[in-house]
Amino acid sequence: MTIRLDDRVAIVTGAASGIGASAAVAIAAAGAHVVLADIAGCEDTERAIKNVGGDSLTIRTDVSRADDVKSLVARTIAAYGRLDHAFNNAGTEGRAEHEIHEADEEAWDQALAVNLKGVWLAMKYQVPAMLDSGGGSIVNGASVAAMVAFDKNGSYVAGKHAILGLTKTAALEYADRGVRVNAVCPGVVRTPFIERFTGNVPEVEARYTEIIPLGRMAEPEEVAKAVVWLLSDESSYVTGHGLVIDGGLVAR
Ligand SMILES: NC(=O)c1ccc[n+]([C@@H]2O[C@H](COP(=O)([O-])OP(=O)(O)OC[C@H]3O[C@@H](n4cnc5c(N)ncnc54)[C@H](O)[C@@H]3O)[C@@H](O)[C@H]2O)c1
Repeated sequence: MTIRLDDRVAIVTGAASGIGASAAVAIAAAGAHVVLADIAGCEDTERAIKNVGGDSLTIRTDVSRADDVKSLVARTIAAYGRLDHAFNNAGTEGRAEHEIHEADEEAWDQALAVNLKGVWLAMKYQVPAMLDSGGGSIVNGASVAAMVAFDKNGSYVAGKHAILGLTKTAALEYADRGVRVNAVCPGVVRTPFIERFTGNVPEVEARYTEIIPLGRMAEPEEVAKAVVWLLSDESSYVTGHGLVIDGGLVAR
């Protein structure tokens, strides 16, 4: 099965790095115009998209700021005239070192502003544009931390659980208007996010991989393939779902 998204228009948040960058390249390779939204520069992603013969437009966006997200969608419509897909993937690990009674209020607010409010804001402005375009599909970036808890990172776990709730709510609200909404729940994926925990030290990496039944981390491209499928018409009967991509981690 070859999945195509020819002439569709897609927004990817957190497109400068890791899973978002891989997904943006895969979506562009499938034929869509991709709008790259990130607080960081997306030059590497732009280059990778060019290399696969794709088309992209970068719009500097902080997903926790309503004005930025509103303008992201407005500029996408101004450039391409429609919006069909979105991968709301931007996220932060926050400060992953404190139990709940020690955690800092500011760090809590910051993590949830990006990881949760950012996804809500994205859908708030994307859905009307998709309805105007005759329908569409959204994939939100959750985590296995939406399925199970990890200690000392309550804001991350709470935010990712809440993304699933928000995804299911949106799926119900727009099912009769042609917008499907799903989430991906990756396990441990080899990106700068995980490297900030492991420092690329093999002994530390081993502590992460030994609990994964498939015995290794995912490559970001393995998540990107699932995102392309969920965005595409090939998953036409799937909505309100959180797709776990974790090498069996939460099957234990
Ligand atoms: N890597 C993993 O193991 C893993 C596992 C499960 C879920 N996730 C989730 O996948 C998503 C992507 O993670 P990744 O591993 O690719 O991380 P990453 O750090 O490589 O990439 C995250 C991207 O999000 C961007 N970003 C951060 N805050 C932003 C904001 N306010 N506005 C716009 N962009 C912002 C960053 O600049 C960066 O480009 C995150 O939501 C993360 O929680 C990652």
